[in-house]
Amino acid sequence: MTEQPMPSGGRIALTPILSEHWGDPEPWTLDSYRATGGYSGLRAALSMTPDEVIDTVKAAGLRGRGGAGFPTGLKWSFIPQLRPGEPVRAGADKPHYLVVNADESEPGTCKDMPLMFATPHTLVEGAIIAAYAIRAHHAFIYVRGEVVPIQRRLRAAVAEAYAAGYLGAPLPGTGDGADFALELVVHTGAGAYICGEETALLDSLEGRRGQPRLRPPFPAVAGLYASPTCVNNVESIASVPAILRHGVDWFRSMGSEKSPGFTLYSLSGHVARPGQYEAPLGVTLRQMLELAGGVRAGHQLKFWTPGGSSTPMFTAEHLDVPLDYEGVAAAGSMLGTKALQIFDDTTCVVRAVLRWTEFYAHESCGKCTPCREGTYWLVRLLHRLEAGAGDEADLDTLAEVADGVLGKAFCALGDGAASPILSSLKYFRDEYVRHVTEGGCPFDPAAATVFAPATVGGEA
Ligand SMILES: Cc1cc2nc3c(=O)[nH]c(=O)nc-3n(C[C@H](O)[C@H](O)[C@H](O)COP(=O)(O)O)c2cc1C
Ligand code: SF4
Repeated sequence: MTEQPMPSGGRIALTPILSEHWGDPEPWTLDSYRATGGYSGLRAALSMTPDEVIDTVKAAGLRGRGGAGFPTGLKWSFIPQLRPGEPVRAGADKPHYLVVNADESEPGTCKDMPLMFATPHTLVEGAIIAAYAIRAHHAFIYVRGEVVPIQRRLRAAVAEAYAAGYLGAPLPGTGDGADFALELVVHTGAGAYICGEETALLDSLEGRRGQPRLRPPFPAVAGLYASPTCVNNVESIASVPAILRHGVDWFRSMGSEKSPGFTLYSLSGHVARPGQYEAPLGVTLRQMLELAGGVRAGHQLKFWTPGGSSTPMFTAEHLDVPLDYEGVAAAGSMLGTKALQIFDDTTCVVRAVLRWTEFYAHESCGKCTPCREGTYWLVRLLHRLEAGAGDEADLDTLAEVADGVLGKAFCALGDGAASPILSSLKYFRDEYVRHVTEGGCPFDPAAATVFAPATVGGEA
């Protein structure tokens, strides 16, 4: 762990584990990964039975890093297994699949891509361990089609792992004495936010248009090719080798009781030093900002997202909320993907929410009416308000339409679209009203951009 002095005098221990070697020369190669202990987690896993690996990850308390925070070991234990003396559970006799969700498309979320770009073998090693645990002989990494350099890195790492015998061939000395070999395929999507939703991802992987599936059945029983499937986020799977290598107590020595361990927090927006900050779960934004040089010079924090654009926004009054699953939920939002987007006092909240809503309307897959129609009308209302052409009754309509989407749509994209609107109305209703009473936006968009010089139209 790296102790970082804080201007306020306090200290926060950063925990660079996933990101520890990102600055090394060529950390993406197998040689450099192995030189720093890479694949020793796999060795430890193979010395156990698959059920022992599941129990270890369960005991560590690793929570899924894809947004919902579901316990990873528990999810693995849902995959039905054939065990002597136990009744045969539905799907137990079918092939099992592991699918790594590398779609990462949420505005503000930007942790999986740098991880796969810098140290793709962490993910490959984690995938082999996870597949061994759930007894899957085929695994897929589903990655966005646009991120070509990352696909190249991943494919090169997978090819190296095949050549080194980690993939494709039986691995020696498994804990249950059975042969275990894994085929790992890197699959590229066409680039749609909805294909990050796990069941839409499975449809897309099967070659269909990506749209969410009705549940039940859940993927653990009938997922890819109607067979038991575990879908996990990149960071969740990449966190597994370290747990196997260093143990449950080590992992639990970080974070909080219900949200143990380390994680990647992604700071972006109006912050002096944006980037990935790997820290124990439960740190606060105040601590993070001190590490990141604070909000950009001369400005105040106005609002921020704890977990990407789909999580209800926070304000300066939430600076000391512990950024773990329970702490953020207790304060009325969600930890989501830990994408901390920072907006200072130059930002028009109506404009920011409009841009997010346009994203959700564009990405709505159209399967269900509340989201398909609701996001269309939300964009129209916000456009009118932002342009100063709305009236106060539009604010009630906006809240009503957003409420008609929240909790009523077929998948969580609908909730994500409604959340920024409802939370911004809660904290910044006055600002919406100003757009009405002043007949336009009171903010200068150029002042908010991080690309503009400090003084616009004068000397920079
Ligand atoms: C619209 C939408 C987009 C999503 N995009 C992603 C994504 O890009 N990556 C991801 O891991 N999970 C995404 N999720 C969450 C997944 O459905 C799923 O919960 C996650 O992959 C499970 O992994 P975990 O248990 O390791 O967190 C998305 C969910 C929704 C509703
Ligand atoms: S909520 Fe939106 S994205 Fe999800 S199924 Fe309905 S239309 Fe599709």
